[in-house]
Amino acid sequence: MDLKPKRTEIIPLDEKGLDRAAKTLRRGGLVAFPTETVYGLGADATDDTATASIFAAKGRPQFNPLIVHFADADALRRHVEVTPLAQRLADRFWPGPVTLVLKRRPDSKLSRLVSAGLDTVAVRMPAHGGARDLLRLTDRPIAAPSANASGRLSPTEAAHVAASLDGRVDLILDGGPCRVGVESTVLDATGDAPILLRPGGLAVEAVEELTGKPVIHSLHDETAPKSPGMLLSHYAPGLPVRLDARTAAEGEAHLGFGPIAGTVSLSPDGTLLEAAANLFRLLHELDDPSRFTGIAVAPVPETGLGLAINDRLRRAAAR
Ligand code: TXA
Ligand code: MG
Repeated sequence: MDLKPKRTEIIPLDEKGLDRAAKTLRRGGLVAFPTETVYGLGADATDDTATASIFAAKGRPQFNPLIVHFADADALRRHVEVTPLAQRLADRFWPGPVTLVLKRRPDSKLSRLVSAGLDTVAVRMPAHGGARDLLRLTDRPIAAPSANASGRLSPTEAAHVAASLDGRVDLILDGGPCRVGVESTVLDATGDAPILLRPGGLAVEAVEELTGKPVIHSLHDETAPKSPGMLLSHYAPGLPVRLDARTAAEGEAHLGFGPIAGTVSLSPDGTLLEAAANLFRLLHELDDPSRFTGIAVAPVPETGLGLAINDRLRRAAAR
């Protein structure tokens, strides 16, 4: 796995710190920063490689979709379809601890990795002054999961981030403890009624007060065991996917890796970070029944980010 050098600097969230953090993000680096809920592990959401490095740093065993953070509504509108329901929720609760899952616009320049292959994007406008300053200064949508290594508790202080991710991020912005202390509430707002995907910092009752109806709770309880097909982030292309394919059959697209060139390659020189960065974009590109009958995928090593890549590929193939 590609790791950053040991020992990450923790710098105060002041004018100088914000400037450094914004520059780091703009050149594709990873910055942990406070929000009102928990500390986020941020990267430029329009940069495939920067987004892939979030997963490398977290050591996630699989690609979960990421929340994309915005400072203003106009920028957000360029990437997702804002439904009337989403508009109402945003008017009332943004900036604040609620995330809205919305349909991705076809012309969005967000990395496909933030959607983990889905046709939706989770977006949020944090209420934390420092986070908002950082988003404005960076002037990019910022993808940020909670800034903890996979399987560890969500961090609510800069020291928690360092304890779990030291040496794996470029910079930690210290803005003191987080006010809310739990992650944002995640609502699917693609339809007429909100669906609760994850309880969090905004009380469900506040949402019900606005809509005048009980909120539908998703079956996709994050903590409940579920079959791969039930997974929120399950992604399958329309075309059949065949794994460990050193060659393609007649009509098949071939997704290459390393020495296997293929129709297109996840990474010609066999770099797992690059393969992760390209995975969903290339699967979408090849998922075209007017050109191919199926997608054959070259073997990808089962190490580092390869675990997450293979996990996704197996889900895509299991239909
Ligand atoms: O408070 C928070 O939300 C923090 C701060 C940093 O903003 N972020 C956070 O991110 O908790 P993360 O990656 O740890 O959790 C994101 C949640 C996951 O439950 C994920 O499945 C869900 O949001 N999610 C993200 N994109 C989604 C999508 N397109 N569809 C459905 N669920 C999505
Ligand atoms: Mg998390």
